[in-house]
Amino acid sequence: MSLPIRIAPSILAADYAKLGQEVRDVVAAGADWIHLDIMDGHFVPNISFGPDVIKSLRPHTNAYFDCHLMIAPADPYLEAFAKAGCDSITVHAEAGPHLDRSVQAIKALGKKAGVSINPATPESVLDYLLDKLDLILVMTVNPGFGGQKFIPAMEEKIRRIKAMVGDRPIDIQVDGGIALDTIALPASAGANVFVAGSAIFNGGHVDAYRNTIATLRGNAEGGRG
Ligand code: DX5
Ligand code: ZN
Repeated sequence: MSLPIRIAPSILAADYAKLGQEVRDVVAAGADWIHLDIMDGHFVPNISFGPDVIKSLRPHTNAYFDCHLMIAPADPYLEAFAKAGCDSITVHAEAGPHLDRSVQAIKALGKKAGVSINPATPESVLDYLLDKLDLILVMTVNPGFGGQKFIPAMEEKIRRIKAMVGDRPIDIQVDGGIALDTIALPASAGANVFVAGSAIFNGGHVDAYRNTIATLRGNAEGGRG
């Protein structure tokens, strides 16, 4: 079963001086989801923003807020991100010792639950979670910064995860270095949700966002074959 292709701009690469306008613009330009990259300077070597920023963005759009927690520990903050208006919350398998409990806690908050794995983390970490997950995020860069190069070796991991998932309605998301020239490969391997930060926001204005999002979508559909 192929789930719909979704383009999820990461506001990590947006102009923070006009974040509300940037969100409105990418949604108007055809974005399916808004990807919110939360970084704590501990789990990853960068600091981004927290739940209060999400709370201030929430009234600006009805778009799906896809929250990627690159923080450790994550459990103490799940409720704050849920209350801030996230529709899905993704935790890293590497962020703590009780991943099943984290997934259960996200679902208990009424949110979609995702797990993200870093490039060196094997997909087997997902084995006992497949019947609880709504989303699997395969990092295609080492997390912490936008503008990095896509790691082609992740294609094999995406293919293996697609096979593990089978007919389960689990979104397979990729994040990092997704651009016009790289998106077809993860799409061909089975990914259906594509995070793009610099590839979109480097365009600088809504018309460029619209063009890039449409071309990303077309290239992903082409990759699916
Ligand atoms: C983790 C972040 C970045 C970001 C995407 O580092 O999750 O991967 O979303 O950044 P780009 O699209 O610029 O690689
Ligand atoms: Zn992300």
